[in-house]
This record gives sequence, C-alpha cells and structure tokens, in this order.
Amino acid sequence: MRIVKKRRKVSIIGAGNVGATTAQKIVENGLADVVLLDIRDGVAQGKSLDILEAGPLMGFDTRIVGTGHYEEIADSSVVVVTAGFSRKPGMSRDDLLHKNGEIIRDVAHNIRKFAPDSIIIPVTNPMDLMAYVLWRVTGFPRERVIGMGGALDSSRFAYFLSEETRTSVSNIHSLVMGGHGDQMVPLLDFSTVAGVPVRKIIPADRLEAIVTRTRNGGAEIVHLMKDSSAYFAPAAAIYSMIESILHDRHRIIPSSVLLEGEYGIRGAFVGVPVRLGNQGLEEIIQLPLSAEESSQLAHSAAVIAEGISALNRLFNNFSE
Ligand code: NAI
Ligand code: 2OP
Repeated sequence: MRIVKKRRKVSIIGAGNVGATTAQKIVENGLADVVLLDIRDGVAQGKSLDILEAGPLMGFDTRIVGTGHYEEIADSSVVVVTAGFSRKPGMSRDDLLHKNGEIIRDVAHNIRKFAPDSIIIPVTNPMDLMAYVLWRVTGFPRERVIGMGGALDSSRFAYFLSEETRTSVSNIHSLVMGGHGDQMVPLLDFSTVAGVPVRKIIPADRLEAIVTRTRNGGAEIVHLMKDSSAYFAPAAAIYSMIESILHDRHRIIPSSVLLEGEYGIRGAFVGVPVRLGNQGLEEIIQLPLSAEESSQLAHSAAVIAEGISALNRLFNNFSE
C-alpha cells in the first residue's frame, strides 16, 4: 500500500535576513512548504521566486509562496516570527522592546485569526519578551509558543568549545539557559567534550573567556557586520526546532517557554531545556543546578520579569 503524506506548511513572518535564510533551509532540505510574509511590498515575493529558481539546481520540489497577506498562513503547522527590527551597534536587545512590541502585537492578532492551531516560534528580539506578547495576545497554550534563543546560544558555546579543544563539534554537548540576552547562563557542569565535563579539560581562565564570548555572541557579529545581526546560525537554530517538531523527534533543545513554577520561576518566558515533538513543548527538563547557576538563572528571570512589567504598562495590561 502506498502511504501518501501531505507536506506540512511552515509560515515565516518577516522576509528579512533571518526569515529568508530560514525559508531557504526549509525548502532546500524538503522539510516543508513555506509561506514567507513581509510588510514590504514585493520583498517576500521576490525572495521566494529567487529560492524557487534554485530548485532545478538543488533538486528540491518543496514550494514557497511570498506574500503580504495573512490569509496565506492558514493551516500552518508552525509559524516563525522574525518580523521587526534587529539590533544596531551600541543598541541593546531591550532597546528594541517598544519598537518591536507594537509590530509583534499586530502579528499575534493575525496568527490568532488565520493560524489558530499553529505552533509559534518567536525569534524577534527581545525574544523572551516578544514570546510573552505572542502568548498573551494569541491566548495559545504554553505548549505552542516556543522561543528560539537557547538553541543558538548553545550552538555558539559548542562552537567555541570545539575550537578551544580542537575537537569536532559533533563531540560537544553544551547548554545555555536563561534569557536570550546579556544575562544568559552557559552551564559548565552540563557541557561536555566526548562526555568529559569541560571543567576537567579546559583551564578556568579559558573557560571564563569562552563563557564571556558566548554571552556576547550576538554583539560580536553586529560589531563585525555593522548594519546587520547574525542570521546563518539563527536560521540553523530555528530549523533544528522545526525539524524536531514536524518529524516528532523529541529532541531536547534549550528554548524559551512560559515557566509555571519550574526552576522556581513563574509567569515569564525563560530559556530552559525542553523536549520538542509534534505537539510542540512536550516536557521541561528540570536539571539539578548548582547554587551559583540557580542564582544566575533567577537573576536572568528577574530581568525578563521587569521587561514584562514594562510591556504590561505599554499595552495597558493587554486589555485592548
Ligand atoms: P531584517 O531587518 O533583515 O528583517 C526584518 C524583516 O521584518 C524586514 O524584512 C521587515 O520588512 C519585516 N517587517 C517589519 N515589520 C513587519 C510587519 N509588521 N509585518 C511583517 N514583516 C515586517 O532583520 P533580521 O536580521 O531578519 O532579524 C529579525 C529579528 O530577529 C530581529 O529582531 C533580530 O534582532 C532577531 N533575531 C533574533 C535571534 C534570536 O536568537 N532570537 C537571532 C537573530 C535575529
Ligand atoms: C543574536 O544573538 C541578535 O539575538 C541575535 O545574534
């Protein structure tokens, strides 16, 4: 018997650097059909056509549609939100709060209306706070709003560890928890090279330098590129999350989810290790953190909670 399986649909809001690069990865790897949506007339359409014209060379049959209309996102399994501004040199992620908050509130209304059963992956910065806006406005259960931050931060951390130890990235396991911001918490006790804890093989001063570089990973790229932030590794991080969801792989990927008492935190989106499958968030993994790591995580969550208070003031407690 022939099993006929309809291809899944992923919509990406924002056809800028991160959105378009993610779209290209999804389509080229045959993971899903894609709808790419942008407010700028013609941009999503032009980039989609450009990607499709690579099909004969790359050998993919997946489809991509560029649009400015939200009707197209109907029936999406996953909606990735990358619309908004990125950081410029000297600008913190939190400087973006007001500008992007308004954009994301509007995007959330549209997702609620046109793709009410989707799983949302918030990416726009400040990501943990934009995840909160998407969750509040859509009213989706927490299992279906899963922010991308920890996957990218952990990948940067892993890359730096592989460089330091001159070991293949495939032998590195690393974990970064906390907010996707300056207060992120790279966890040395849960990071290993071929199973060996990094503290056993890398001197303390070098580890400290790697942790600092990881915390500044986004800013390092902005400093080099001047008028853009990172997008290749972010797109790969988004891809890994979507792949675990659509293929129901149950991968454990650090992501920003609404905590309801886990790690002693309540009411905020904070990066923690989670299991991702086709229902979205399947489980929050609770690790036995050291006292120092717990206090760093609590500090990171407190900074996010301040941002949530600012959002509630900005949007009149989301009453409109
Ligand atoms: P970009 O400037 O290249 O693209 C943003 C796109 O959003 C533009 O094409 C713009 O026209 C579009 N847009 C603006 N308002 C819109 C609206 N109301 N509806 C639909 N589209 C709209 O920026 P880039 O590099 O793609 O970054 C996007 C966001 O993702 C930024 O906020 C950036 O800071 C964030 N980011 C987050 C990462 C994370 O780890 N969470 C990693 C990398 C970027
Ligand atoms: C990054 O970490 C800017 O959040 C973005 O590259």
